[in-house]
Amino acid sequence: MSRWRAVAPGRVNLIGEHTDYNGLPVLPIAIDRAIRIEFRVTDDAAVRLHSPVERFAPFAFRLRRPIRAANRGDWSTYVRAAARGLLEHGIDLRRGIEGTVSGDVPVASGLSSSSALVVASALALLKANGMGVEDGPGDGGAGRAAAELAPDEDPASERPAAKTVSRLELAALMARAERFAGSRGGGMDQAACLHGVEGHALCIEFEPLRVTPVAVPERWRWVVASSLERAEKSAGARDAYNERARQCREALRGVGGGYRDLVAEPDLDGVLRRARGVLAPALFRRFRHVVTEGRRVALAEGAMRDGDLGRFGELMVQSHASLRDDYEVSTASLDEIVEIALEAGAAGARLTGAGFGGCVVALCEERTAGTVMEALATRFFAPRLGGSPGRDAIFAAKASGGAGVGRAHHK
Ligand code: GLA
Repeated sequence: MSRWRAVAPGRVNLIGEHTDYNGLPVLPIAIDRAIRIEFRVTDDAAVRLHSPVERFAPFAFRLRRPIRAANRGDWSTYVRAAARGLLEHGIDLRRGIEGTVSGDVPVASGLSSSSALVVASALALLKANGMGVEDGPGDGGAGRAAAELAPDEDPASERPAAKTVSRLELAALMARAERFAGSRGGGMDQAACLHGVEGHALCIEFEPLRVTPVAVPERWRWVVASSLERAEKSAGARDAYNERARQCREALRGVGGGYRDLVAEPDLDGVLRRARGVLAPALFRRFRHVVTEGRRVALAEGAMRDGDLGRFGELMVQSHASLRDDYEVSTASLDEIVEIALEAGAAGARLTGAGFGGCVVALCEERTAGTVMEALATRFFAPRLGGSPGRDAIFAAKASGGAGVGRAHHK
């Protein structure tokens, strides 16, 4: 019997935090850690999945509308969201999947394990129903997590997939679908997961969605360190996240215009003066983060293209300060990691993902990455863990290929 595997990477956002839901660009990488679904296709329209991790209980549901929500915090929510998104898009899911979910993307860490699960589920369900995913215009020539997949064939007919959906379409569809989990995310995570390119960052623009890969200079290293605080997207952190999104809309109503035009205005200080005059202090700070972060993304993309490590690092430091002081999504632990990383020689460091816990990403030169990791092990992790941090607490992330589905290699 054919075994299939859907592989979907996590992501680390390098810069452009809390900008996507305001229609402004972001610059993440897909990373070399992924969620994997090993499955076989079933003749009945149902999903049956389990995980080797005990706290993720096995579940099953029918691929028939309406697909009901699971309890808050239940991991099946993300698989249900994918199925629901496909069904609502009019995709007929007559066949189901049965299998195992595993992965090495740390959970609740701001590295998009949840979106990776959504995307992997969608790819598995499409594959089971004879549909493929292909590159469309604007897809940016996405790389694939293909290294671990054998050549792709239709499971039923053994012929190439009859119908296809483009990566961009699927990213947009899954971004909407994931809102089923209650968080009004902006679309960065699903697009990064589907469009990863080895050795490249992804400049993702919205409305309409567009992805442009930007080569990461060879000597740049991304160190990811966990605050050891869980940033649970399906639970606590989501209310604070949704509140920020609401405040951004309210601030914009006060100032007038759209974020994209405001960021493009040559006199940004003038924009900020105007905003300060009409917005209450807290709303003004949220607004200032969004528009200055919007500017920083464009500058950071330029710095990456120029190979200017120092400049890119500075922009990351500014981004973190803005997230800490104006957007108020940092924590004492995240701030401490940023400080230690910078003192140990990182060119830049900032919280990555939504914040409220989760991880920091630090930009290092090849030769300082080890020093930075050691400093964090000694000064941040040892006092808290009483020993060395595990491979989920601190690691070097590589810009990697995007999600894919194919035959599982037989071992
Ligand atoms: C979460 C959301 C993303 C984005 C980030 C913050 O990861 O899913 O869409 O808004 O937070 O930048």
